[in-house]
Amino acid sequence: MFRRAAQALISEEEAKRHTTLARELTRLLASSSSVTMFDGPEIIEPPVDRDSNTPLATVRLPERRFEALVLNESVTSAFQNYVEEVRYWPQLDSLGLPRRNRMLLYGPPGCGKTSAVEALAASLNRPLVTARVDALVSSYLGETASNLRKLFEYADSDAFVVFLDEFDSLGKLRDDAADHGELRRVVNAVLQMIDAYSGPSIIVAATNHPEILDTALWRRFDLVQELPLPTQEEILRVLIHVLHGRVSLEWLHEMAGGLVGLPHAAAEFAAHAALRRAVMAGLREVDGQILQSAIAETTARRWA
Ligand SMILES: Nc1ncnc2c1ncn2[C@@H]1O[C@H](COP(=O)(O)OP(=O)(O)O)[C@@H](O)[C@H]1O
Ligand SMILES: [Mg+2]
Repeated sequence: MFRRAAQALISEEEAKRHTTLARELTRLLASSSSVTMFDGPEIIEPPVDRDSNTPLATVRLPERRFEALVLNESVTSAFQNYVEEVRYWPQLDSLGLPRRNRMLLYGPPGCGKTSAVEALAASLNRPLVTARVDALVSSYLGETASNLRKLFEYADSDAFVVFLDEFDSLGKLRDDAADHGELRRVVNAVLQMIDAYSGPSIIVAATNHPEILDTALWRRFDLVQELPLPTQEEILRVLIHVLHGRVSLEWLHEMAGGLVGLPHAAAEFAAHAALRRAVMAGLREVDGQILQSAIAETTARRWA
């Protein structure tokens, strides 16, 4: 629509023989074709660290859906309710109810924190802005405060889901640097920014370290959600996603039993390993021996 309107304006100006303006508009319109367009609205690029010139965050429209994830019922309904709640923000705003726009996810690595944030952004049709807290604060101290300010200003520029990954690195900083004035100020600044956040975005922090809950950190969040290790049944569901039709249900149950205690990511890894081995052995179906090797390959790795 913008393009058509601009084109109409150019024709109009040309007709009036305002050639300088018409030419300038044509030039601007042509140069804007390199701007990335998603779904209509344009996404502004995230800010960069002044010293290293590296972006402070990445921004994209994720495709992952909740339906593709294996989450227990209480996690699923918590996310469903939240997505629904965000749709009611206009009504809730008009009643003066505070928006719940700060969420903390915790749980062992590989159990879906990143995946769930992606699915949340996709469900809300919002771009996902991912920043790693350790990357934000590991540059020169003086720059850190300015990085954080830039990131939060950016969060105000649109309705994003802003993901602060490795949020526990903030807690670590606070301990390590108990007597270091500037670092402590930086940490407090982040906490205050989160506390005071009332912009259009949703801030989601994630940590693998639930110890963070012992500090006052978790109280800054409106919603605190655990993404726990999968049960054997849930492991089975992850395996079925990858291996359905390639192996009998009995074998799958056995395989799931061998993976209890490991995260979803490990179950997926084992299923991929089994499928790869079967394909390379020229087999259409995964057999018991392949399953054994895939489980061994998976349990030999570190998952936490
Ligand atoms: N709940 C889940 N259901 C299905 N697959 C999952 C789940 N959690 C993790 N995975 C798989 O493991 C990979 C890593 O998980 P991720 O979401 O990055 O975990 P985390 O952020 O908690 O460490 C994902 O890309 C996905 O393929
Ligand atoms: Mg993650």
